[in-house]
Amino acid sequence: MASLLYFLFLFTFAPLSESQSYIGVNYGQVGDNLPSPEATAKLLQSTAIEKVRLYGSDPGVIKAFANTGIGIMIGISNSDIPGMASDPDLAKNWIDNNVVPFYPASKIILINVGNEVLSYNDPNMMKQLLPAMQNLQNALDAADLGGKIKVSTVHSMAVLTQSDPPSSGRFDPTIGDLLKELLGFNNATGSPFAINPYPYFAYRSDPRPETLAFCLFQPNSGRVDSGSKIKYTNMFDAQVDAIRSAIDAMGLKGVEIVVAETGWPYKGDKAEVGPSLENAKAYNGNLIAHLRSRVGTPLMPGKSVETYLFALYDEDQKPGPTSERSFGLFRPDLSMIYDAGLSKTSQAPSTTIKTPAVSPAPEPKNDSWCVPKAGVSDAQLQENLDYACGQGIDCGPIQPGGACFEPSNVASHATYAMNLLYQKSGRNPWNCDFSQTATLTSTNPSYDKCTYLGSGST
Ligand SMILES: *[C@@H]1O[C@H](CO)[C@@H](O)[C@H](O)[C@H]1NC(C)=O
Ligand SMILES: *[C@@H]1O[C@H](CO)[C@@H](O)[C@H](O)[C@H]1NC(C)=O
Repeated sequence: MASLLYFLFLFTFAPLSESQSYIGVNYGQVGDNLPSPEATAKLLQSTAIEKVRLYGSDPGVIKAFANTGIGIMIGISNSDIPGMASDPDLAKNWIDNNVVPFYPASKIILINVGNEVLSYNDPNMMKQLLPAMQNLQNALDAADLGGKIKVSTVHSMAVLTQSDPPSSGRFDPTIGDLLKELLGFNNATGSPFAINPYPYFAYRSDPRPETLAFCLFQPNSGRVDSGSKIKYTNMFDAQVDAIRSAIDAMGLKGVEIVVAETGWPYKGDKAEVGPSLENAKAYNGNLIAHLRSRVGTPLMPGKSVETYLFALYDEDQKPGPTSERSFGLFRPDLSMIYDAGLSKTSQAPSTTIKTPAVSPAPEPKNDSWCVPKAGVSDAQLQENLDYACGQGIDCGPIQPGGACFEPSNVASHATYAMNLLYQKSGRNPWNCDFSQTATLTSTNPSYDKCTYLGSGST
């Protein structure tokens, strides 16, 4: 998806960081106006970003992150794969020069061997990928770093031939054997399967308003997976779960997924569909709130997928349309381009999320109610209300004369309906999502004669 253009530019490196250990950022350096690595490390420490992905292994950058606690992914370029595959000594030298001197002060966590190699039509390089990874793993083991630092490779979404609905996600059969071997390596070494899902590109190929809302985590009617019957309310979850289904279908359920890149440009050329400040802020802001909520995806509930935002800075020397140089979150003077909710002091949504009832592993025995998050607009609440009452629940109590009609305002009526739908649809965390405008509470909202359904009252 994002692949073609990215191959060309991302050869240097990209760091990532996040305020939760599952939020990271890509630190690409194809720019002539970028802040120093030291200033960058300080910037990340001031945010909720806790991991950074570099596309290469620049020692100056790796050193700048020493003693910051920030986890670091480093990378090996596609062109280095043949050498690493054929010569174990080269792999050993690479580890001895790029990893050993810096670890553990610099918290290197993963080495990505190549970027989207399987989406290039280069059978020779594809054949050499796993041997290169194996030689690097052996070199790490020899340096006593096996298990502490993992080895993986980054895939584009193009490894799937089928992704819709998510439960039918399957890998391209022409690279099936190779993927099975790579997943076997992931499974044996405990390293993650890394992918680059871009709802932005999905929207560009289907630029309808309802697709935009689905891609931006905004209120939408959702898409029911005809196989699993799960209703998806955002494209990110759908794309990640399609990968999950494909991995599971290979019999490797234990392999974890990492999102190595995802993002949305805030600016583009006139002819480009999708880039805008508003859309970029909605995508990244809602994605970060989604990750911080730890709701997870329908197939991986209760835990956020480790996700590296693309990207920390604009890279002004990348070729292509304006959007390619406009994925940044921060300006060269370290100010925010827009507020994506990355501040360390978590914002209203994440505070609400920290109530016990919203902990990652939902406790079905504990009573919980689904209510709107603080700050959700009346317009959004109205959409939630209309949506919930359209799903066959009994909205009689919020009609005139009903026990929950007063106070007669959209917030009160939406809360009643959202909770009722949550209770009726199975009380799973994703039933209380409403495009990231809802949260669970352990406080019973019932009042007077108005009773909010909970698990105890069924
Ligand atoms: C995955 O790894 C586990 C633990 O090493 C092993 O027991 C299992 O057989 C592996 N599964 C596959 C399909 O390779
Ligand atoms: C509710 O949750 C709390 C905290 O997780 C736990 O200690 C308690 O046992 C739970 N109550 C029930 C009825 O499961």
